[in-house]
This record gives sequence, structure tokens and C-alpha cells, in this order.
Amino acid sequence: MAGFPQGFVWGVAASAYQIEGAAGEGGRVPSVWDTFSHRPGTIADGQTGDVACDHVHRWREDVALLADLGVDAYRLSVSWPRVVTASGAPNPAGLDFYDRLLDALVERGITPVVNLFHWDLPQWLQDQGGWQQRDTAHRFAEYAAIVAARLGDRVGVWAAINEMFEHFVLGHVVGEHAPGLQLPLSDAGTVAHHLLLAHGSAVATLRATGPTPIMAISSYAPARPVSDSPADVAAAAYYDTVQNRLFTDPILLGSYPEEALPLVEPAIREGDMTVIASPVDLWGVNYYTVNAVRAVEGDIPLEVIPPAGLPVTAFGWAIAPDGLTEVLLGLHKRYGDRLPPLMVTENGCAVDDVVDAAGRCEDRERVSFLAAHLDAVQVALDAGVDVRRFYVWSLLDNFEWAAGYTKRFGLVHVDYSTGRRTPKTSFGWLRERIRDSRTASIGQSAR
Ligand code: FCB
Repeated sequence: MAGFPQGFVWGVAASAYQIEGAAGEGGRVPSVWDTFSHRPGTIADGQTGDVACDHVHRWREDVALLADLGVDAYRLSVSWPRVVTASGAPNPAGLDFYDRLLDALVERGITPVVNLFHWDLPQWLQDQGGWQQRDTAHRFAEYAAIVAARLGDRVGVWAAINEMFEHFVLGHVVGEHAPGLQLPLSDAGTVAHHLLLAHGSAVATLRATGPTPIMAISSYAPARPVSDSPADVAAAAYYDTVQNRLFTDPILLGSYPEEALPLVEPAIREGDMTVIASPVDLWGVNYYTVNAVRAVEGDIPLEVIPPAGLPVTAFGWAIAPDGLTEVLLGLHKRYGDRLPPLMVTENGCAVDDVVDAAGRCEDRERVSFLAAHLDAVQVALDAGVDVRRFYVWSLLDNFEWAAGYTKRFGLVHVDYSTGRRTPKTSFGWLRERIRDSRTASIGQSAR
């Protein structure tokens, strides 16, 4: 094993709605997640992101934690409803928050990696049709320009949209996420296309503002049929196309996978594919698990379950580090020269963490999980895949979407009744790992 390359970047990732709170402050307007989480029966524990980790008030403490952890980079998302008013104008008070946050990060030598959309569409745009409307993609590019004008000088890497697949499927087909729609697949395809168009339009806008690298962020999960029956094999192949290629082929190859074309074709207009394929500089991989897929009857003709025989996290997701190697190698093989350098932009696991009487939170399962996934990255590196960064999801326990506060992904435990942060065992472990990797890099350069 050659070890991680010199200059390998370590980071953690988070998103606005999951940590910020301060939902009604500083002129922030409601997002689809405010509306959705306040609707009874949508969130496991009946909670909302109104307060979350109260990051808007505790950001200094959180930046100090990042500095203590020793990360090179922090992947955050900007809340569109916090920085743009309902008339589409910049909201100076909202932008001020990120301005201070980015200054503090830069001051501590932590590179801000800024993602513009982690699923929190302003509700006023949803009321106008949301991602079913082509115009939302244009509104997104305007929002990108607003953020770039105010914050761009301190951003180290831009991303437009986190995980289009999840937002499309969970938010617009299954209805488990905001905006909670259950569109027939035939209508939902427009959402997928408009998300891609928004991505491409924002990339073009950001590119015009300066030389800052821009990345795309997608989630990947190998899909395995539950049996070798032709129906299950076909269902797994279709799921694989939609999760692993629908949002990647158009950006990197300039065309949709043929099997998925009927889904999106009605929404495509001349010139769209060129915009969508605007070049990006880095490719972000969010990886958590592998899925088993079986064919079922219904409008959604398949079901996704954890594969049998694998250990699972507290979320019930299968633990399969070799799936990460498979994803990294698979991207390298499928996209060849068109694939920009890779970064793992999210990886982590839910553990039922508790702080013990001595004030410690011993999350050994998370340490094993992360160690195994770093080994999986190493295998891909050794096979010649260019992987440059690794971001753990997440610094803090946070609002885990439909699971509310019942699933903890943090390196730092959050007591939601007091806001108290307690670094877990994994926090100390990662800090050592980062230090060791830097020492090894210095060794490499000395040779
Ligand atoms: C990813 C999301 C992130 C978080 C993790 C656990 O799909 O991007 O916000 O919920 O899963």
C-alpha cells in the first residue's frame, strides 16, 4: 500500500437545514423543509429543524471544534431561504452570517467548501411549482450569483447541488422528504431534468465569477438483485441506472443513459445538454451502503432493502466498505478521461450514541466504520484511481431529515435540550489519523 497521497485533504461535511436552526431569524423565509417538518406525521420524532444544533448562534464553538479536529476543509451548505428574500433579492442579514463564518474558517486555515443547495428550496418557489418548473433552474443560477458576489472570495471549492438523486426520489416520488410529493414517475422526470439544468446553469454562473474549482456531488450505492430471477435482475439494473448514472452521465458524457431517457425526455429543450455538461473540476462521491433490489408490482416497480448477511448501522443500512472501492473503481472505468479527480464528499454512519456518566461518548462502531472505509479508499488509490479528499458526514449529530433527531451521525455528540457538544471517541481517532497522514506526507516529501 502506497499510503494516502501527499496533500490529501481531510474534511467534514454538514448542511444548513440540518444544523443551523434560527429558522425565523434575520429575514430567513420558510423552506420546503420547514413546511414539511411542521406537517404532522412526516418526521420520526415529530421534530423540526427550527432549532437543530443552533449553529447560527453557536458557530464560533463549532469552528473551534473544526480547528481542534485539524481538518483542512469544511463542506457546508448555504441556506437559499436565508440569503434570498421572497422577491428574489439578496438578504444582507442572511449573507452576513456566512460572511462571518467563512472569515472565521479562513482565519483558522480551514478551506470553506460551499454547496449551494442541500434540499432546502424556498417555499415561495415551491408554491410556484418548485423543481417541476423550468424557471426554478434559472432562479437557482441567480441565487448562485448572489452568493458568489458576497462570499466567493473565500470559497475554496464550489458545489451546486447535493445528491440530486435523493432529492428527486425521496422528495418527489416516494414523498418521505420535502416537499413530500408522490408524483407518478412520468411526471417526476421533469424534476430530475430541472435539477440537472439548475446544476449546469449554476456551474456556468460560478465559472464566470472566477477560477475557484467547482465540483458535482452525487451519491452512489451498488445495486444487487435479491435473486437471479429476470424480474429482480431487471429491477436492480433499472435502479442502478437511476441512482448511479441518471445524474452522472448527463454531466460527464452530455447524454442521459438510454434506459432512463423516457423519464426525462419531455422536459429536454435544445441546448440543455450543453448547459448540463458544463465542465466541473472535481467529482464528489457520497457513499454509505450497498442496496438489494427486488421487483414488485406498482407504479414504482421495485423495492430497495439492505442485502442479507451484512452487518447494519443503527439506521439499518448495510455496512459494506468494499462497495466504496467498487464505486470509485466503477466511476474510473465508466468515465475514463472525462472523470475529474474524485473526492469522497460524505461517508459516515448512524450509531445509537450516548454520553456516559463520566461524560464520554464511546462510538467504537463509528471508528471501525470509518477506518474500514478509509481502507476501501486506499484500495482504489492503489489501483490507480485519483482520490484527493475525504469528508466525514458529519461534525455534529444533527436533524437527520425524516428520522429527525433519532439518528446520530456526528463525530461530536449534541445534547438537543442544552445544545452541549461532546466530542466522541471517533473525534479523537480522526484527529490522530489526520495528524499521522500529515506526518507520513512529510516523510514522503523528504524521501
Ligand atoms: C446523505 C445526505 C446527508 C445526510 C446523510 C446521512 O444522503 O446528503 O444530508 O442525511 O445522507
